[in-house]
Amino acid sequence: MDERLKVNLDAWNLMTGYHAASPEYLLAEFKAGENVLKPIELREVGDVRGKSLLHMQCHFGLDTMSWARLGANVTGVDFSDKAIALARSISAELKIPARFVQSNIYDAPNVLREQFDIVFTSYGALCWLPDITRWAQVAASFVKPGGFFYIAEFHPLTQMSANRAGTTKLEFEISYFHTAMREDPPGPDYSDHSKIVSETHEWMYRIGDVVSALAATGLRIEFLHEFAECSYPHFPFMKQSSDGLWHIEGDPIPTIFSIKATKA
Ligand SMILES: C[S@@+](CC[C@H](N)C(=O)[O-])C[C@H]1O[C@@H](n2cnc3c(N)ncnc32)[C@H](O)[C@@H]1O
Repeated sequence: MDERLKVNLDAWNLMTGYHAASPEYLLAEFKAGENVLKPIELREVGDVRGKSLLHMQCHFGLDTMSWARLGANVTGVDFSDKAIALARSISAELKIPARFVQSNIYDAPNVLREQFDIVFTSYGALCWLPDITRWAQVAASFVKPGGFFYIAEFHPLTQMSANRAGTTKLEFEISYFHTAMREDPPGPDYSDHSKIVSETHEWMYRIGDVVSALAATGLRIEFLHEFAECSYPHFPFMKQSSDGLWHIEGDPIPTIFSIKATKA
């Protein structure tokens, strides 16, 4: 595996333990029967009953198994052995049918030789990937003719802004055109600030990079949506509104984007 991804893998194996214990990840609620998918993807992906669904970068599988609870036949792929082991144990404990495969996303076509009605990925997936063109090719290769790819992801504008405990407002620190890899030193976990995560390597992709990479695979872009409302409290200064979603005061920037792309 690419050395840069090995560094990220160590960090994700650590984070899996932190996130399983973090209230933000809703493991207890999930075990009690809750669906942990967010309103944006529930609305935009639509009815999944009887559909085969591949979840790329599934972490420990709560979103994947939420799709299973809605009737999809699900497969989750992630490179973290700790995350895949936890996903399998939750699936067995709750008797939710799901298949979990451990693989670097770039190697997944060698491991999973099939196609799916729906290929899904979400929130916090793209920033770990060094090659958006190859990522789009992998995603497209998994879509059955007549099926679709769907992503709901943090908007790159949110990656440009400072985001530390105590950050009180939007403050852009890097350019929208900063495409070079960033080496983040060890620091607090985003979900549990009391835990320290080892160093990570991250990338930022502009909306145009993502759309162009998907379009170049031959998928047809059905929509690109941008949302002010955020599915997670991404910044400490966000406020939750009555619909349960999170806002920056005045909604100055999009915080989430989503894309649906179909295969003829
Ligand atoms: C923020 S999490 C995604 C969370 C996801 N929205 C969910 O359903 O919980 C990012 C995931 O990407 C995985 N990941 C990062 N780089 C990867 C790679 N090269 N191949 C496969 N998985 C990767 C990590 O292990 C982690 O589980």
